[in-house]
Amino acid sequence: MNVTRQDDRIDPATFLSIMSAFPAGIAVITTLNENAQPVGLTTTALCSVSADPPALLVCVDRASRTLPSLLSRKEFVVNFLRESGSATSILFASKKDDKFSAVRWRPRPGGLPILTEDSLAWADCSLLEAVPVGDHVVLIAQVREGDVSPPAHEPLVYFQRRFGTWTPLVDGEEKP
Ligand SMILES: Cc1cc2nc3c(=O)[nH]c(=O)nc-3n(C[C@H](O)[C@H](O)[C@H](O)COP(=O)(O)O)c2cc1C
Repeated sequence: MNVTRQDDRIDPATFLSIMSAFPAGIAVITTLNENAQPVGLTTTALCSVSADPPALLVCVDRASRTLPSLLSRKEFVVNFLRESGSATSILFASKKDDKFSAVRWRPRPGGLPILTEDSLAWADCSLLEAVPVGDHVVLIAQVREGDVSPPAHEPLVYFQRRFGTWTPLVDGEEKP
């Protein structure tokens, strides 16, 4: 389904302020570049798309230096950060050349890098579709493999441009 671009729209700064009122988990997307070197970026624009087949999406800025590798490699790992990961998040939000020299990681079979220290869960994905929307590209991917750490850690959360963590109030499966 195609949606026509409309001209009645708010300014980008207001839009970003509105979206910053929606708390998000933080994930580092990792892949390999054309020289088989690990590359990656910090993201919050990520969500589940389908349970069967398992699919997720992540929106990547066209200006991202990791994007060409994501599009050519057509596979990546989503590393969901835990509360200890704010420095890792800032590192992967930078334009540093060798982001991986400052973090613990290991190659998966096939070589995709996975962050081993600051992750709460990871998902190994293969790209299904790349849809350009405005200044971002929406990457829709099928999840091939993944794992979750035992529930000893809290997630890293981003809200109104600040890092924080999770405070549980009510069990989400309880009926009101
Ligand atoms: C908390 C946080 C969330 C971010 N979320 C996204 C995102 O969802 N998509 C995106 O393209 N960039 C996002 N960024 C910005 C990128 O991480 C940043 O542009 C980074 O420098 C990209 O690295 P690269 O150019 O090496 O790929 C986010 C940054 C921060 C700090």
